Amino acid sequence: MCGIIGYIGKEKSLPILIQGLKALEYRGYDSAGVAVFASDTVKVRRSVGQVKELERTLNNDLDIASHLGIGHTRWATHGIPSEENAHPHSDCQNRIFVVHNGIIENYKELKEYLKHRGHHFTSDTDTEIVPHLIEDFLKSNHDFSTALLDALKMIRGAYAFAIIDAKNPNTLYAARFSSPLVIGVGEGENFLASDPSALVGRTKNVIYLKDKELAEITKDNINIINLEKQKTPLEIVQLGLSLEQAQKGNYPHFMLKEIFEGPEVVRSALRGRLKSKENLVKLGGLEQIADKLKGAKRLLILACGTSYYAGLVGEYLFEEIAKIPTEVHFASEFRYRDEPLDQDTVAIAISQSGETADTLAAIRKAKEYGLITLGIINTVGSTIARETNAGVYNHAGPEIGVASTKAFISQLTILVLMASYLSKSNEYSLSNALLQELEAIPEKIKAILDQSSQLEALAEKYKHYDNFLFLGRKYNYPVALEGALKLKEISYIHAEGYGAGEMKHGPIAMISEKFPTMMIIPQNSVSEKMFANLEEIKARKGPVFAIATEGDQNIATLANDVFFVPKTIEPLEPFLTIVPLQLFAYYVGTKRGFDVDKPRNLAKSVTVE
Ligand code: AGP
Repeated sequence: MCGIIGYIGKEKSLPILIQGLKALEYRGYDSAGVAVFASDTVKVRRSVGQVKELERTLNNDLDIASHLGIGHTRWATHGIPSEENAHPHSDCQNRIFVVHNGIIENYKELKEYLKHRGHHFTSDTDTEIVPHLIEDFLKSNHDFSTALLDALKMIRGAYAFAIIDAKNPNTLYAARFSSPLVIGVGEGENFLASDPSALVGRTKNVIYLKDKELAEITKDNINIINLEKQKTPLEIVQLGLSLEQAQKGNYPHFMLKEIFEGPEVVRSALRGRLKSKENLVKLGGLEQIADKLKGAKRLLILACGTSYYAGLVGEYLFEEIAKIPTEVHFASEFRYRDEPLDQDTVAIAISQSGETADTLAAIRKAKEYGLITLGIINTVGSTIARETNAGVYNHAGPEIGVASTKAFISQLTILVLMASYLSKSNEYSLSNALLQELEAIPEKIKAILDQSSQLEALAEKYKHYDNFLFLGRKYNYPVALEGALKLKEISYIHAEGYGAGEMKHGPIAMISEKFPTMMIIPQNSVSEKMFANLEEIKARKGPVFAIATEGDQNIATLANDVFFVPKTIEPLEPFLTIVPLQLFAYYVGTKRGFDVDKPRNLAKSVTVE
């Protein structure tokens, strides 16, 4: 959940480190720091707050001649955001400098062990044990890489490290286990980053470091070894990322840009995969296991956060379209629950980043039980994508806004394709109607985006409430949950999503003039039930903001405010009912004065448990 950057080469390292850290700030932004090699010593600067605060403190130093450096933007796990706890951390001699993303689970024991051996600590972090551990091994073995390897063998937990050694001014060291780390391959220079988006505009060639690998990087060479000191081949892959994609364009925030990418995101997820006239879905990434998949007796969807809510829509789709019993589990619960798992069950991980620690662990557990594992993943080359047996990439492009929006729309698209792909011949009629209508969805989303100013005005009206209830049924129950999550994440309003049928079993107690309800009430097989719930809320003077279907004459007579969405078939309604909720959350958050791209306490990719 932190961002790591590293550089070795002919350029001045500081400007490159600062620019890279700014691109990684969506991973964590409560403090930052750099260590650069300049005129035979290592200079360190750390500060509390965003990278621009660090840049301000660097001021004239930004220009110093330094060809080697590492940098870090933090999302605190151990120790409050402070200068002492900011990275890099060093050893007693100020020889070794380390930046880290992840959590060292056995840091307390190692810290006690090192204290007994005379080491002094200045921070509350888990990371600080690493430079001291290397320093300790260097006492008995002068080869830096060997000392580093020995230290890595002592560490338990998740890590991505970038390390410099004051006695080795021509080498940048890196190591990873579970947390992501890529090497950017340049001409006479090389880079390190937690995520390729920080390398856009610097290089198109990257190497994804694998678990338990250590890299020794000079400006002209990259040597990768595993923990047994065996050399591993360099697998260089081309980055398909454009600078434009990694930047905001004319939008004030990445979140708004990504919401407006909705129509294009559906098209790119469908590209080359759908021939609706022949009712044909082609998912190349699943072909190698198609028979096993089509024979599946049960599907387990494993995910977290927004991806989990997309999975809940998937549950309805797989059961209604493909007639396969489906369960959706919070990955953080699945990894510790003891449930019967058999080989007729297929596990599907849904993850935008492909690095979420709980989802990765859940998939590894499913593999241990011999289940086929699939991924619906957006980030190409990410760990979950590489560790699942097969899968489908979203092709939604990088999602930089911390609050996931376009990835949700893209995940829905893939789930509809997979449900049709798994549908048996006798359900073709429904899946055919689905695929035909799916091609019309991008235009219908655009129609909603064209009315965004309406939602901005409604956000102005509702921005002062501190509580909000979101209600939906069937396919719109997960939309209620996701809509509430977006408002929580972006505006810090206490918003709760609920199945409307459950309201009478408790939440109705909260209803009052001060507690508005967002009703997701399109015209469909359950709208009558929704209208009954709406009446119950009106009877208790609760303000109601309704998301309804164009042409619905009744709703306006009951709800205080209505936003209309185009008509579509029930299984595809989430595509249209979620977009106004994404926009509503965005406008409420910005009107309450918050930086919606960097919501407090959140990070884009949760790579620790
Ligand atoms: C959603 O807006 C949040 N950023 C968060 O809940 C996110 O969906 C969750 O951490 C899962 O991330 P993933 O899709 O990258 O696995």
